[in-house]
Amino acid sequence: MANLVTPMALRVAVTLGLPDLLAEPRDAGPLAAELDVSPLALDLLLGHLVTLGVLERTGGGYRTTPFGAHLRRDADNGLANLMDAGTAAGRADLAFVDLLHSVKTGEPAYPLRYGQDFWSDLDDHPHLRAAFDGQMAFRIREQLPQVVAGFDWARFATIVDVGGGPGRQLAAILAAHPRVRGHLVDLDVAAARTALAPLGERAQATAGSFFDPLPPGADAYLLFDVLHDWDDEHAERVLRRCAEAMPDDGRVLVVEAVGGLGAATEMDLVMLVHFGGRERRVEELEQVAGASGLVLDRVVELTRSRHLLEFRKGVVTR
Ligand SMILES: C[S@@+](CC[C@H](N)C(=O)[O-])C[C@H]1O[C@@H](n2cnc3c(N)ncnc32)[C@H](O)[C@@H]1O
Repeated sequence: MANLVTPMALRVAVTLGLPDLLAEPRDAGPLAAELDVSPLALDLLLGHLVTLGVLERTGGGYRTTPFGAHLRRDADNGLANLMDAGTAAGRADLAFVDLLHSVKTGEPAYPLRYGQDFWSDLDDHPHLRAAFDGQMAFRIREQLPQVVAGFDWARFATIVDVGGGPGRQLAAILAAHPRVRGHLVDLDVAAARTALAPLGERAQATAGSFFDPLPPGADAYLLFDVLHDWDDEHAERVLRRCAEAMPDDGRVLVVEAVGGLGAATEMDLVMLVHFGGRERRVEELEQVAGASGLVLDRVVELTRSRHLLEFRKGVVTR
């Protein structure tokens, strides 16, 4: 933990695809020629990966170990997509070298390194958007049954999924509740349209910003892992758009990892460095929602890592 050698060596290994390329033993020289990298430097990297147990030396050259195979792109564990410096998360994590800047200022380090915020970068680079949507779909895959079973979604005739990303949660909720309709709003809805296609007319996706007016009149506005991406000012603005759009008896459903209720300290720092956000505690979420005219009705444990906070319209507190 005293230096960045190992975290970076693993990331460079994944970025170069070494765990995949070394399924069969190979020497550094031919591998360096194929990758167009320095043979000497590659050999140094491969040596450290042997020390880490990611690779092993065999008579025929370096080979990926069963441990190292967890870093293969086809390992189906989401790791390569998180660590490859060419993907959204792997690239964003490189901003951690400027964690000190974030701690001093409270600002995200991402724009310092890349010149614009994370979401603008996704807009400009379709491969980053595809990687991020893939990461979002993967990270919730195993929890979908709990998300669907953990709350009475059938109470609502229409749910607007605000910043719904690739749409896996909305698709699963609608598939389980045939009378519920859904409308997803996000900056990019290509992946969501694919996920929602089997629901036919019950689901639609609209490309747009949640800082602009949202589709009006729905019974519930879902914010799933959205508010933690934002500082208080922006979180309030999103919540206000929900409050404006919903009828008097509507609900705002905030789902995320909640501080003090299982949120990981590591993820707190990720939210800070990537976005300038954080995992808020219940009282902090109540405060930003209160500023948008919403009051907390109840808190439901949805999955081991995420709680659902149900808000309704109430008295504006400031
Ligand atoms: C952490 S992801 C969560 C996605 C989805 N709710 C889920 O749980 O899979 C946050 C989402 O907010 C979207 N987003 C960011 N800024 C936005 C904006 N101004 N308007 C609409 N969506 C936005 C991103 O595109 C991304 O899909």
